[in-house]
Amino acid sequence: MTLGTTYLSLDLAHPVIAGASPLSATLDGIKRLEDAGAAAIVTASLYEEELVGEEEALEAIAVVGAESHPEVTSYLPPRCGCRNPLAAHVETIRRGAEAVAVPLVASLSATTREGWVGIAADLQAAGAAALEFNFHHVPTDPTETSADVEGRLIETVRDVRAAVHIPIAVKLSPYFTALPHLAASLAEAGANGIVLFNRLYEPDIDLETMTFQPNLELSQKREIRLRLRWIALLAGKTPLSLVASGGVEGVQEILKYLLAGADAVQTTSALLRHGPEHLARLVKGLTEWTQGHGATSVAEVRGRMSADRLEDSGVLVRAHQTTALLL
Ligand SMILES: Cc1cc2nc3c(=O)[nH]c(=O)nc-3n(C[C@H](O)[C@H](O)[C@H](O)COP(=O)(O)O)c2cc1C
Repeated sequence: MTLGTTYLSLDLAHPVIAGASPLSATLDGIKRLEDAGAAAIVTASLYEEELVGEEEALEAIAVVGAESHPEVTSYLPPRCGCRNPLAAHVETIRRGAEAVAVPLVASLSATTREGWVGIAADLQAAGAAALEFNFHHVPTDPTETSADVEGRLIETVRDVRAAVHIPIAVKLSPYFTALPHLAASLAEAGANGIVLFNRLYEPDIDLETMTFQPNLELSQKREIRLRLRWIALLAGKTPLSLVASGGVEGVQEILKYLLAGADAVQTTSALLRHGPEHLARLVKGLTEWTQGHGATSVAEVRGRMSADRLEDSGVLVRAHQTTALLL
């Protein structure tokens, strides 16, 4: 029996990947995720806007310190022998890639063309096995069209593809209008996979203080459904690797994603909730279920319930809510 799968043309021992989170932000965290059994590890994102902010802040402090209070330099964050926060992050990737045998996928979220291309090249040079683009954009300008947003993403992929040879996965938000067309365009631009979907940070209003409050909640199982539908609709119809991210708490969610057609499945909230050791339970559950259902490989399970293999794929696109109630 083999649980092996191919993700972004990388061979994985099984389909369960540790998704991007603070757990994979440090060398120790990366090693712990490998020890716990992750088939691949996505690092916490490197955010270009934070780099710029941190560098500017450090420069400002250094200037002020040099001019007026030299002792202020003692408040600077500890140095790692690296010149700046980018170098520190790249160093973590370099040491992580050396330390673990599983693929280390470096996640980045840039804001400029130079940022995407330059940081991607640095991450590749550091030994990342693949890149995951955390493409985050909240369109607030009414003159910006959906085509503008998609076009920029596609051009970014094209630019980075020209600069690096390692596989590129694009982690998408669920708010793109015509996902199959976007997937085709991303593939044509040189992407190798898409991650469906990122969860967006949704601040809430505190009625006492009348302020927006940060509201980061860990995910719930029910969040798989939006992703299940899109993976089932895309499976077999795109050359891209399909990677699920969202709502994996136990082995049932992993199985549903595989049946829908995912090549691999990421889990984040469950690892934050139960610790990286939860990975071993997930893999054990996957092994037992697969054996119990007479399958000899994950490949036999994958895509069995994708739209192109369903007798009635209308269930995935039907609009009549009352029909769903009567079924
Ligand atoms: C605390 C926390 C930090 C996260 N950090 C990142 C990040 O740095 N980059 C990223 O692309 N996604 C990040 N995510 C999103 C997760 O990788 C994942 O896509 C999302 O939580 C859905 O998966 P889940 O339901 O298994 O948690 C983060 C999620 C959480 C809860």
